[in-house]
This record gives sequence, structure tokens and C-alpha cells, in this order.
Amino acid sequence: MARTSVHIAALIAASVAFACHAGAEELLPYNIAGDGIAESLTGAPGDAARGRALVLARTTTCILCHSGPFPETRFQGDLAPDLSGAGNRWTVSQLRLRLIDAARFNPETIMPSYYRNGHLVRVGRNFAGKPILSAAEIEDIVAFLATLRD
Ligand code: HEC
Repeated sequence: MARTSVHIAALIAASVAFACHAGAEELLPYNIAGDGIAESLTGAPGDAARGRALVLARTTTCILCHSGPFPETRFQGDLAPDLSGAGNRWTVSQLRLRLIDAARFNPETIMPSYYRNGHLVRVGRNFAGKPILSAAEIEDIVAFLATLRD
């Protein structure tokens, strides 16, 4: 990856913690089994339509890094894999853990850990101890990603 891209990615990762806090809550417990989390964080399935809207929302910053099957959106990122076919490549359980804590798969990743405390850089004091996304938002995005099949 070119040096400039790495800088841009670091800026995105640092600002994402500030951007996404609407509605965030205290962390719920979850069980990591193997390379995933099998159970829904909320105990209920997510809503794929809401998940799609969240992935496209400026606040999650997903498409600053990723591209995907989003014909209505002109500007999409090229710092990360295209999300098309993510539902073929990963199980729901793997998708859930990746969103919650991408750094578990790759400690060097630029992808933010969306449902974890403790290693985010420069988290504002009001946000300390709170995840970036809520449990329900994680489940909505997981439900959407699972529909992305080639
Ligand atoms: C700052 C850049 C960045 C942001 C923001 C980001 N990601 Fe990622 N994502 C990555 C990178 C880079 C990878 C490749 C694997 C790795 O390095 O962790 C990745 C991997 C993934 C994968 C696995 C892709 C595959 O099929 O191989 C999924 C799914 C994913 N991200 C979803 C999301 C979603 C959903 C969001 C928003 C909630 C998001 N990402 C936000 C950078 C980002």
C-alpha cells in the first residue's frame, strides 16, 4: 500500500471513534468460539436493510475504505477488499467477530474494532468505555453482509 494511503487510513481509523457514537451503549458480553461469535449480540437477528444503510452512512466510514455493490454511491474506498461476495467468503459468525474486533484477525489492520474497548487511539473522554457501534447496529450490518453473495 502506498505511504499516502497508509496515512489516510490512519486518519480514518483515528476519526472513526469520534464519528460514530450516536446511540452507542456499554459493551454486552460475547463468547468467541474458534474464529467467530456464533450468537447474536442482542439475541435477535439483525435487519439487513438497516445494515445496508449503516454501511453506506458516513458515520461508520466503511466505504471510505471498502467498495461494494452500491451503485448509488459514487465515491468508494480502495484501501480494503470489495465487500461483494463477503457472504460467500465468511460465515455469519466470522463476520460478527470481524466487525467487533478486526484486529483479532490481523493485529496490524487499519480496520477499526467496532465493538471493543481498550485499544482505540485518542478516544475522547466522553467516549471512553463505549463501543463505536451499538450491539443492534453490529447485528444489522452482519445481517446485511451475509446477503452479499456472488
Ligand atoms: C480504515 C479502513 C477500514 C474501515 C473504516 C473499515 N474496514 Fe473493513 N477492512 C479493512 C481492511 C484493510 C480489511 C482487510 C483485512 C484486514 O486488514 O483486516 C477489511 C476487511 C473487512 C472484511 C472482510 C473482507 C473480505 O471479504 O476479505 C469485511 C466483511 C469488512 N472489512 C467489513 C467492514 C464494514 C462493514 C465496515 C464498516 C462498519 C468496515 N469494514 C470498515 C479496512 C477497513
